[in-house]
Amino acid sequence: MNINDIPTRTLRAEPSGNAIEIIDQTALPHLYRTLRIDTLAGAAHAIRAMQVRGAPLIGVTAAYGLALAMQNDASEAALDAALQCLGATRPTAVNLAWSLARMQSRLQALPREQRAQAAWTEAGTIAEEDVAQCRRIGEHGLARLRPLAKSSAPMNVMTHCNAGWLATVDHGTALAPVYAAFDAGIDIHVWVSETRPRNQGLLTAWELRQHGVPHTVIADNAAGILLATHQVDAVIVGADRIAANGDVANKVGTYLKALAAREAGVPFWVAAPRSTIDFACRDGQAIPIEARDGDELRVVGGLSEAGVPATIRQLPADEAVGNPAFDVTPARFVDAIVTERGCCAASREGLTSLYPECSHAR
Ligand code: MRU
Repeated sequence: MNINDIPTRTLRAEPSGNAIEIIDQTALPHLYRTLRIDTLAGAAHAIRAMQVRGAPLIGVTAAYGLALAMQNDASEAALDAALQCLGATRPTAVNLAWSLARMQSRLQALPREQRAQAAWTEAGTIAEEDVAQCRRIGEHGLARLRPLAKSSAPMNVMTHCNAGWLATVDHGTALAPVYAAFDAGIDIHVWVSETRPRNQGLLTAWELRQHGVPHTVIADNAAGILLATHQVDAVIVGADRIAANGDVANKVGTYLKALAAREAGVPFWVAAPRSTIDFACRDGQAIPIEARDGDELRVVGGLSEAGVPATIRQLPADEAVGNPAFDVTPARFVDAIVTERGCCAASREGLTSLYPECSHAR
């Protein structure tokens, strides 16, 4: 992805091997700023506070967080503590647990003095794999999108939350096919739902604008009428965890879009890499749903009239609010899952047809 015409990734490992640089997503879309992270605590905070967010990027950041911890202390106790600390940051995106399990199995067999270097290298490999997988998701998604292109009007894709470049190391998942289509010269327009309360849709609008992709931001509640009045050709979303039976946990509000899409006969696709599929999770009911702080609803952020970052309280501190961060879309409402290995049905059979090596995972 180009930011101000400069090829940029969401996470950059410093060549010194002692720190990473991330884009502070809590400051976007108003301010583009990077942060340097050189400790385990800094990495854990960045994930928890959503300075980095999106399932794949959470996983990659956690891998680097573990590597930073190993530079400080590579003992067994420190490894356990770092796994514990990072693993507790956000519960729903399984990429976090996947990445930490991979790091653990790479490191625990090694003598202490080799762990820091091996951890840094493995985190880099996970990051590179993420880039390659997202690129391939874009190619497979493009093949699905192409038949929907029209000669006289733009193809309209609806998305939810941010499953774009910002949510991964590069390319994105749900937005990768959109970028691939745009780059292939297809006339495409994206409906971007705001995604209250954290407004990740504003991140989506920001990155689409950076790439020059036509888009329109809508209130979350406008999705239904757009789908019902044939103004959407396909809905593509990302995922935080896909259960073995094809149920999909993604940003809260995804389920409502899936219901409306089915009613309107609009295809609903989920784009995600292998690291988002939890073959050990039987179905959506077993997916832990993160409940976030009520202040995310009580207080809204933005720019003041003077153009300065500011917050406004819209509810008293003691107002009761509920803030589930994700919901589960049952597999029957998902028309296809788009992965780096191709597309499949949202079912155990579909998923294991692409990942036969996981067919015995329980
Ligand atoms: O709470 P967030 O912003 O981390 O949630 C992000 C999403 O729900 C994304 O759709 C999902 O992680 C896929 S990102 C490629």
